[in-house]
Amino acid sequence: MKAAFIERYGGPEVLQYGDLPDPVAAPGEVVVDVHAASVNGADWKVRVGQYKQTKFPFALGRDFSGVVGAVGAGVDDLKVGDAVFGVLEAGQEGAYAEKVAVKAAIVAKKPDGLPHVDAAALALTGLTAMSAIEDTLKLKPGETILIQGGAGGVAGFAIQLAKHLGARVITTTSAANRDYVRGLGADEIIDYNATDFIEAVTGCDAVFDTVGGDVAARSFAVLRPGGRAAFIASGAQPPQPDRDDVTSLRPPVRRARRPLERLAQLYQSGAVRPPVVKLYRLSEAADAHRLSESRHFRGKLVFQVR
Ligand SMILES: NC(=O)c1ccc[n+]([C@@H]2O[C@H](COP(=O)([O-])OP(=O)(O)OC[C@H]3O[C@@H](n4cnc5c(N)ncnc54)[C@H](OP(=O)(O)O)[C@@H]3O)[C@@H](O)[C@H]2O)c1
Repeated sequence: MKAAFIERYGGPEVLQYGDLPDPVAAPGEVVVDVHAASVNGADWKVRVGQYKQTKFPFALGRDFSGVVGAVGAGVDDLKVGDAVFGVLEAGQEGAYAEKVAVKAAIVAKKPDGLPHVDAAALALTGLTAMSAIEDTLKLKPGETILIQGGAGGVAGFAIQLAKHLGARVITTTSAANRDYVRGLGADEIIDYNATDFIEAVTGCDAVFDTVGGDVAARSFAVLRPGGRAAFIASGAQPPQPDRDDVTSLRPPVRRARRPLERLAQLYQSGAVRPPVVKLYRLSEAADAHRLSESRHFRGKLVFQVR
């Protein structure tokens, strides 16, 4: 099969397009013929070696949408020809490929009417946003949340979900993406190049930070006493608050069928729509990574594989 893979860690130029052996469905697994796979912020971090893998070569990529092409022993709830989408298990890469083997139990049926490209774009970002907003921050109707990095994939889903739950949403973005985040439902938009969010926002019930670094560390300042903040771009541990009356949390992102079905239901009910997508071929993986690593774009970058 064709795949975008690496044989060593390094810059975008280490991404190669070529042949890797076809995967085989082990017991409990399916092989998915991948139609689309998305680029996530973690992928370039894997590429540079931040999450060590032991065996080269390996294809990058964590989420995918496609059609079941083979079924391993013991799988009785999926069959060849089913359209599915999902996220590989934590620590497993390999979705930038024409085929991927994955545990059947963590794959879900793709909703009818949701194109493969959009299903791939929504998978990991959706699971991450749902984990942060619903399970970790437990956002309630009427609360106010600051979502840092509103034009990104995870944050774009989070804005829509928070609005769906009845919260008021403030978000940060560059001026070029102001209309985009407004369209997702943001009530108040801060151009982070023109305004320091700490000067503009106060008394929030919750913060969801997808930017990391200094932005994450300074986010505690906008919380009311008793407020809580969730962080996904600060590594495995959330940053330590500089005050003792707020909570700092790191959402776990469970790979399982149930949250994917919840995501599908949010899409089908119209609560969440797919992000703006920029399409690439697998042979253009290095270009996609250059843009992803720049961290300044809108929505999601997605490989159209078939
Ligand atoms: N399971 C997990 O824990 C998990 C899952 C997915 C992602 N993540 C992490 O979450 C982070 C977000 O990922 P992502 O894929 O949604 O997006 P991303 O690709 O990391 O970020 C892109 C967005 O960030 C915005 N941005 C950059 N600097 C900003 C700033 N200073 N203030 C506000 N916005 C800023 C950009 O908007 P502008 O162009 O307007 O600047 C762009 O739209 C990444 O670090 C990723 O590794 C973690």
